[in-house]
Amino acid sequence: MANPNQKIVYTKLFINNAFVDAQSGKKFATLNPVTGKTLAEVAEADKADVDLAVSAAKKAFERGSEWRNLDASQRGRLINKLADLIEEHKTELASLEVLDNGKPFAEADFDIQCSIDTFRYYAGWCDKIHGNTIPADGGSLAVTLKEAVGVVGQIIPWNYPLLMLAWKFAPALAAGCTIVLKPAEQTPLSALFAAALSKQAGFPDGVINVVPGFGETAGHAIVNHPDVRKVAFTGSTEVGRIIAETAAKSNLKKVSLELGGKSPLVVMEDVDLDEAVEIAHNALFANHGQCCCCGSRTFVQEKVYDAFVAKSVELTLKRKVGNPFSTDVQQGPQIDAESQQKILKYIELGKKEGAKLECGGKKWSNEGYFVEPTIFSSVTDNMTIAQEEIFGPVQSILKFKTLDEVIERANKTTYGLAAGILTKNIDWAFTFARAVEAGSVWINCFDATTAQTPFGGYKQSGHGRELGEDGLEPYLETKTIVVKLPTKN
Ligand code: NAI
Ligand code: MG
Repeated sequence: MANPNQKIVYTKLFINNAFVDAQSGKKFATLNPVTGKTLAEVAEADKADVDLAVSAAKKAFERGSEWRNLDASQRGRLINKLADLIEEHKTELASLEVLDNGKPFAEADFDIQCSIDTFRYYAGWCDKIHGNTIPADGGSLAVTLKEAVGVVGQIIPWNYPLLMLAWKFAPALAAGCTIVLKPAEQTPLSALFAAALSKQAGFPDGVINVVPGFGETAGHAIVNHPDVRKVAFTGSTEVGRIIAETAAKSNLKKVSLELGGKSPLVVMEDVDLDEAVEIAHNALFANHGQCCCCGSRTFVQEKVYDAFVAKSVELTLKRKVGNPFSTDVQQGPQIDAESQQKILKYIELGKKEGAKLECGGKKWSNEGYFVEPTIFSSVTDNMTIAQEEIFGPVQSILKFKTLDEVIERANKTTYGLAAGILTKNIDWAFTFARAVEAGSVWINCFDATTAQTPFGGYKQSGHGRELGEDGLEPYLETKTIVVKLPTKN
């Protein structure tokens, strides 16, 4: 059962398998976005703490270390053990997530399940990561080994706190890396709980370190650290660019980036309209629109446009906003005051630039960071709301005539994270799927992301892929070993 009074036990930094205060003694408040009030004071990591965490992670990866010498199958067992412990504490973790993030309990519960699935998926990979035997020229035998890159820094956002941790931890651990992870300053609590569970699971000292703190201090220290070999980041494109620059300047560490999006969802005229309206609604409003791959440009073919808009408004007006612990609530608050203000500013811009406000458009309640579910119709490509990431519950519905036209318009963005098409016509679906510049394309569904399927962006939506077999690659180096063989056989 969801627990609105979930106790907050872990509020310190997790370094070398111990919970410790920050070197500076500093703490920061994490808030409940429903009320804007402090939930807990959390130890605030800065460079000195990151140095300690990296040094623990480096030691855990050294030659002769327990982690390095563990059989790959045993690594898999540890990851599975962590998945079991997360499952055992699912309700506590989901409740913490609701308190810290404001998402409805059912969504938080689903996130925790997806986190468990991610750990289990990668646990299975541990003893199946292997290289090749290559018939090289010159009569030699060449083999490749896949080796862990070493200490990895991981920086995650607040929209899916535990799930983003799972997407980062699981492939890194499967590859045999050691980790320093910084959760988002808005949502540090579930990561610290997971750190405690990792200790209970039996990961050796220093393999997993979690350092809550701010981006420009703790985050920067991770990205700038010479002993960190790779950084994995999920967040804004703006910060992604800073991270790529810092990484290049410090030690050219490898970088994988999962950034923003302005993903198109195309609705063709042959759809079942009620079904399409619902898919498009969920594609945007799930998690309050705070999803990197949300379908934030709903393109609807001319013939069904008016009916689609009317039905979307009808559905959206029914959307229940309120306390995320109430079982009938579909939408809680946005993450913080800054985000709420940013969304309201985009709504004003939408009105000013000539889009038609169909419903919503204001903040909801004077307490907390709620925004009404909002729909704009008559949105055109050049409007700010059709170009920039709003990251809130604001659906923009655009009209198009032909498939060729919508393909061109769908690609007219600097982003390329995801795209979707709803149609019964297989030719239309695959023409679109092949032509659209996006890392994921969903046909007759949206955000169908699972542990087995690679996820990541084209263009300025990022570098590299997470999940699936491809998700291991960023955490691995390929070593080629060549043996000179006797000349005759
Ligand atoms: P952000 O990109 O600032 O934060 C994400 C993470 O990066 C946090 O852990 C933060 O502490 C860290 N960070 C910030 N500056 C850093 C730096 N200089 N060096 C290292 N780490 C740093 O995103 P924010 O401010 O939370 O949200 C702003 C906008 O970004 C949102 O409105 C949304 O448009 C986008 N965003 C996209 C996400 C995605 O899933 N792709 C997730 C969160 C935000
Ligand atoms: Mg919070």
